[in-house]
Amino acid sequence: MPKVTIDNVSIEVPEGTTILQAARMIGGNLVPPAMCYYTKLDTSGGYCRTCIVKVTQGSERDPRPMPKPVVSCRTTVMDGMVVENITNEELVEARKGVVEFLLINHPLDCPVCDQAGECHLQDLSYENGLSKSRYEFKRREFEMHDIGDKIKLHMNRCILCYRCVKVADQVCDGRVHGVINRGDVAEISTYIQNSVDNDFSGNMIDVCPVGALTDKTFRFKSRVWFAKPMDAHRNCDKCCGKVAVWLSGDDILRVTGRKDKYGEVEDWICNDCRFDKKQKSDWVIEGPRNIDRHSVIAQNKYGVLKQLKIDVSKQKQIGEKAHNK
Ligand code: SF4
Ligand code: FES
Repeated sequence: MPKVTIDNVSIEVPEGTTILQAARMIGGNLVPPAMCYYTKLDTSGGYCRTCIVKVTQGSERDPRPMPKPVVSCRTTVMDGMVVENITNEELVEARKGVVEFLLINHPLDCPVCDQAGECHLQDLSYENGLSKSRYEFKRREFEMHDIGDKIKLHMNRCILCYRCVKVADQVCDGRVHGVINRGDVAEISTYIQNSVDNDFSGNMIDVCPVGALTDKTFRFKSRVWFAKPMDAHRNCDKCCGKVAVWLSGDDILRVTGRKDKYGEVEDWICNDCRFDKKQKSDWVIEGPRNIDRHSVIAQNKYGVLKQLKIDVSKQKQIGEKAHNK
């Protein structure tokens, strides 16, 4: 099995593992952020470049470093590879550049965006961004498109990560939406008047890392950090029926898939469970759900950031000691 060292931590991984997957096997703060890769979606990744890392040794057989940062979600581990992420200051600076580019056209409308509090771009820019934009030109703007009665598309917020297109391709039958046009006018849209009404289309909301696709049945009902997430289940003949319900008192404000610490759903859920089962009596409530990821909806968010700084300096010290031997 190939052995890879990431930020001075070594691990043996199965052949064909990517650097991102290897980092996730190690876990902790050395795991690169990912805005377009999604474990459950084939061929995802390679679009956003937030997961870049520096490969300082290509492999045992060919130890030359890779000249530029590489996307960890699409680069396969080679035996003896040495990778730097949070321990490489140049790389951290490069990631800040990627975040700045992602924010060039993204509206800074977090105060009115339903995704605020669980938006990956918000977290990413909080952790890697500048406190103000250097961009002085007009931001890209799109016409509003109605894509149906359940999902709200707000194209100005889209970062073109393609996750929703892959959900439509791989989870739903009969895809009717995709990316049309190219370059800075590329947009998510449906063909002619089609609306997205497949049984599993709601999963596009869960995979969207920003507020471009939001739940119309939840819009403007509550800031997400005021809602209480609970694990719940029901017998469903279309999906696994295992969800997270978001409560305000006894009211179910919304239903989502259960997400792991990387913000990826554990199982796809159907639109009946997501949009039509909003009574507490529809569900067996299992108990509170812990949101375990970098986000303002995770408990102790600021403690996590402090820990990140401690971890970075610890990893660097390990590296320096190894270097001086
Ligand atoms: S709408 Fe959301 S999921 Fe779809 S491409 Fe845009 S950012 Fe990605
Ligand atoms: S997560 Fe790797 S390029 Fe987007």
